[in-house]
Amino acid sequence: MTERAPDTLPADLVIHGGIIVTGETQFAASIAIRDGRIFAVGDAAAMPAARETFDAAGLHILPGAIDVHVHFRDPGYTHKEDFESGTAAAAFGGVTTVFDMPNTIPTVADAAALTAKHAIAASKAHVDYGLYAVLGEDTIDKVPELVEAGIIGFKLYMGNTFGRIPTPSTGAMLEAFEVVAPTGKRVSLHAETNSVMERRQRQLVEAGRTDALAHLASRPAVVAVEAVARAAILAEWTGARIHVLHISSAAELGPLRDAKARGVDITGETCPHYLMLGAEDYARWGGIIRVNPPVREAANQQPLWDALADGTIDMIATDHAPHTPEEKTRAEIWSVDCGFPGVETQMPLMLTEVAKGRYSLSDYVRWSAVNPARIWGLYPRKGVIQPGADADLAFVDMGRTWTIRDADLKSRSKVSPWDGRDVTGMPVHTMVRGRFVVKDRALQADTKGHGRPVHTFQQMPAAAPRHADQTIAAATAVVAPGAAA
Ligand code: DOR
Ligand code: ZN
Repeated sequence: MTERAPDTLPADLVIHGGIIVTGETQFAASIAIRDGRIFAVGDAAAMPAARETFDAAGLHILPGAIDVHVHFRDPGYTHKEDFESGTAAAAFGGVTTVFDMPNTIPTVADAAALTAKHAIAASKAHVDYGLYAVLGEDTIDKVPELVEAGIIGFKLYMGNTFGRIPTPSTGAMLEAFEVVAPTGKRVSLHAETNSVMERRQRQLVEAGRTDALAHLASRPAVVAVEAVARAAILAEWTGARIHVLHISSAAELGPLRDAKARGVDITGETCPHYLMLGAEDYARWGGIIRVNPPVREAANQQPLWDALADGTIDMIATDHAPHTPEEKTRAEIWSVDCGFPGVETQMPLMLTEVAKGRYSLSDYVRWSAVNPARIWGLYPRKGVIQPGADADLAFVDMGRTWTIRDADLKSRSKVSPWDGRDVTGMPVHTMVRGRFVVKDRALQADTKGHGRPVHTFQQMPAAAPRHADQTIAAATAVVAPGAAA
């Protein structure tokens, strides 16, 4: 095949009339796309000839959102979701890249399981994706083969949640960080301390508590505070990079800020449910809002918003955790599966706060696209609208007020605490690498399998391990004095 000369051949598509939003500003401009990438942004008159044009008048064009925390349940729990339904839901939510969690069956803890999931994702995904692998007590030796087989990062469960993946001891965590640090990969943490939660839950059960609020009582914010602080100490010691998933409380912001100030490579995300729901919502929703970590007292909301605004929290993710209505509405709270779908409602929920004037569209673009792309080594290929970037675009109608309905969700899980909520701002079309996956709120033909893995071009900064002379590997390599050589 011959190379196409960039300046002589037309664009595949030129988009006119939209308002482009970046992490700093917004401006009216046209976008020219060729071979799935943006190659020009500017005045309509300056655009090259195009095979096709698209009219985006009246719409804001955002870099597609990057949701670094979804559970698409495939393989193993496909009655809840699969890679096809999950990525379709993502596309309807203006999300063009997702990172899928490893608590599937089998757990993604070795290269065989990872390779099998890659095959599933490649055949079903409508949007681009990265895959996580678990870092567990007994799987530390799998780190090299997992990195080799293609991951976006590691997930470590400091506390139990859906799938009941065993929690590594602090000793195993330290060793895991020692082993991951030289790879440069980031470790995402479910930062809730298991031993505290187990004691509390056992005693709550013994005391006869079966109500929804007992779930919150079993996981007070201190479990997250202790976990974040402890993980930050281990990351600081080893030089491992960490990411705090689903920050739910004002109290966790203390250890997060302290660690950042000490220079630890630590980042964090929060989710719409921690920003917009509060303890009073348990009365209305019961088990439907059961999620780990729990939705907390409403007093946590403003500090979380403030932490996004000041950069303590780096990004918005969703912890999209689909379950069936039966699994979410069991009478006794302890038997209700944790989590609910969120990948397709994040953008409208957040845009509603923009419409209220709470923050700017550029703030939102930093939290949803620019920062995740930078932190996960995908920038500037992802997360930005500029020449050279993938043409991953969310076309948003900021004038549209509508009502979220569970029945309309594209997720297989049609049960969420957002049902009936009025929102302003609608992702109308979603494009992934130059191709419309959703147009006029309709899934386009033949986009199943269009999604591609993103770890292939991930570029993390150079690894910076510390105390390498004191790792378990270094210590056990020393021959005991007096032992025969
Ligand atoms: O509520 C949750 N559900 N929290 C998690 O950490 C996991 C998730 C799931 O996989 O269902
Ligand atoms: Zn999760």
